[in-house]
Amino acid sequence: MKRKLILDVDTGTDDAVAIMLAALHEDLDLVGITTVNGNAEVHYCTDNSLRVLDWIGKPEIPVHEGCFKPLVRNDFPVPRSKGDLTEKIHGKHLPLPETSLKAQEQHAIEYLVETYRNTTDPITLVPTAPLTNIAAALAVEPKLVDLIPEVVIMGGGHDVGNITPSAEFNIWADPEAAHAVFNAGFEKLTLVPLDATHKALITATQCRQFQQLGTPAGTAMADCTAHRIGVHDKIQRMDIEHSAPVHDAVCVAYLIQPEVITLERYPVDIETQGALTVGRTVVDKAHRGTRPDNCNVAFDANAALFVDIMMKTFAKTA
Ligand code: BDR
Ligand code: CA
Repeated sequence: MKRKLILDVDTGTDDAVAIMLAALHEDLDLVGITTVNGNAEVHYCTDNSLRVLDWIGKPEIPVHEGCFKPLVRNDFPVPRSKGDLTEKIHGKHLPLPETSLKAQEQHAIEYLVETYRNTTDPITLVPTAPLTNIAAALAVEPKLVDLIPEVVIMGGGHDVGNITPSAEFNIWADPEAAHAVFNAGFEKLTLVPLDATHKALITATQCRQFQQLGTPAGTAMADCTAHRIGVHDKIQRMDIEHSAPVHDAVCVAYLIQPEVITLERYPVDIETQGALTVGRTVVDKAHRGTRPDNCNVAFDANAALFVDIMMKTFAKTA
């Protein structure tokens, strides 16, 4: 049986790749997409998700728009508007044609609650965006912790931050929501932080290979990632020259081949107060605190395998 999943996204150049991988891989069944405020205002994230689905010929996958602001904060520049890193990496519109596809009427929170209440099959939840929708859905239906078999989150960074010295964007963008999710009591919580995604870099040479596939997914992957590489080269250089992480797609690759990341189990919590550290994902690697282990954290990734999974999947759509 195919593995069912729901993606919660703020599409976004790397969310776009995650959507394509989830929608096109033969072992996965992408049952729905929910969108949230993050890389751009939520309506842009919704429109971008629909553009991706249209472009790759998957118009039947439903998209449900979710929260337009963080749970409690009005004082963060999220979505970040002009001239900053997120704007440059993602922009408002993806480099894909406009679409006539429309989002569903039902709000993302209602969709998540209703889908998990009614399903008889396990559906993995994969949030690759600020955790606002997930925290709100948990507030409506706390039994989601029992109904969702695994949550795979792109977020956080132990040795590296990307929005502040301490914090990664998805967690920082709504720290109270992230705190609620990490403390909800999910039995299987998997975190793919920057520590892993920065080891699964896509190079400019690989971008050209994706382009040469000549498929809609191959060209979209190449265009989105080439743009990311250009921005990273200018303002956040990676260990490999002319390369960029495609963070969110690593979570989907993990569902296809778990060995694409290396997991270690630790207590994980979210800082919501610190003047310098708000939004930090605190991974207690030395077990100095009193909290029990609650999360499988990826500290390494197999870049060659990651590229291979995407190359094979995106080649098939010609
Ligand atoms: C995360 O932040 C977003 O900008 C990306 O889409 C990714 O989910 C990386 O920090
Ligand atoms: Ca994202």
